[in-house]
Amino acid sequence: MMGARVEIFEVGPRDGLQNEARHIPTRDKIALVDCLSDAGFARIEVASFVSPKWVPQMADSGEVLRGIRRAPGVRYAALAPNMRGLHDALEAGADEVAIFGSASEGFSRANINATIDESLARFAPVMAAAGAEGLRVRGYVSCVVECPYDGPVAPSEVARVAEALWAMGCYEISLGDTIGRGSPEAVAAMLAAVAEVVPVERLAGHFHDTSGRALENIEVALAQGVRVFDAAVGGLGGCPYAPGAAGNVATEAVHARLAALGYETGLDAGVLARAADMARAMRGAGQDS
Ligand code: HMG
Ligand code: MG
Repeated sequence: MMGARVEIFEVGPRDGLQNEARHIPTRDKIALVDCLSDAGFARIEVASFVSPKWVPQMADSGEVLRGIRRAPGVRYAALAPNMRGLHDALEAGADEVAIFGSASEGFSRANINATIDESLARFAPVMAAAGAEGLRVRGYVSCVVECPYDGPVAPSEVARVAEALWAMGCYEISLGDTIGRGSPEAVAAMLAAVAEVVPVERLAGHFHDTSGRALENIEVALAQGVRVFDAAVGGLGGCPYAPGAAGNVATEAVHARLAALGYETGLDAGVLARAADMARAMRGAGQDS
């Protein structure tokens, strides 16, 4: 019997590599994406068109997008927080883009230098221009359970921002436990609130694994009907503006857990293992992030 389908959205080349302290050559990033392209993903986030002063690690995003081998059936995604980012993403050939907001004011200010309401106003023209180009836009909400600056975040705040991004036209809302501190109970309460305002089949879970509970949180989200999860091969990552955030939950670990639970991902475990080796080598030995 075929199990129910769950999609893993690979974010390692973006969420993973944006946070690495060491310089990673563009050709190594391209090689990682090219390996991931053979794993069976439908979507891979490979680039981020943000200020290079804010995130120097993503400054070569255009070169990465232009340099990768385009595998049929894979959509290559990029972050685009403003019109400049959208323009550069389009020019480099991104298949879709993502805007990213926060459920907490402290992180919104630290990450994108805007209040929540200012950020939503800034996203509106990006949505309109992307729509005119026929480009799909994903929406991220960060700090869905806890903020490194403001502490615990109320589910109603997450629902408010998720609903705003959904109403703006985002095709999917990815809910980020940015600092990986979410307990299964907190995640369940947050998801219940958000699912009242955005259809659950349009939600994705984005768990960092700081507390080692990401897989448990994925199971909680599965039980509530979420069928898309963001993950990074080799557990790469973090966020430069979220002190203490560890990497995203590792793709290969999510894949193994989903398989054990009887879900189908369509991913090739052998290719994932190769990509995870590459990711770990890029991170370098002896680093603890
Ligand atoms: P700002 O300083 O308020 O905006 O930054 P600005 O418009 O005044 O621009 C400042 C400078 O950046 C200017 O350059 C602009 O030209 C330049 P200057 O005149 O000083 O030389 N600039 C750009 N350059 C390249 N591409 C652009 C761009 N926009 C402006 N698109 C801004 C506002 C949003 C740009 C800035 O705060 C920023 O870049 N933030 C990005 C932070 C970031 O990338 N964080 C990590 C991604 S989010 C994340 O990881 C969370 C997630 O994984 C989910 C989760 O885990 O929760 C998604
Ligand atoms: Mg993240």
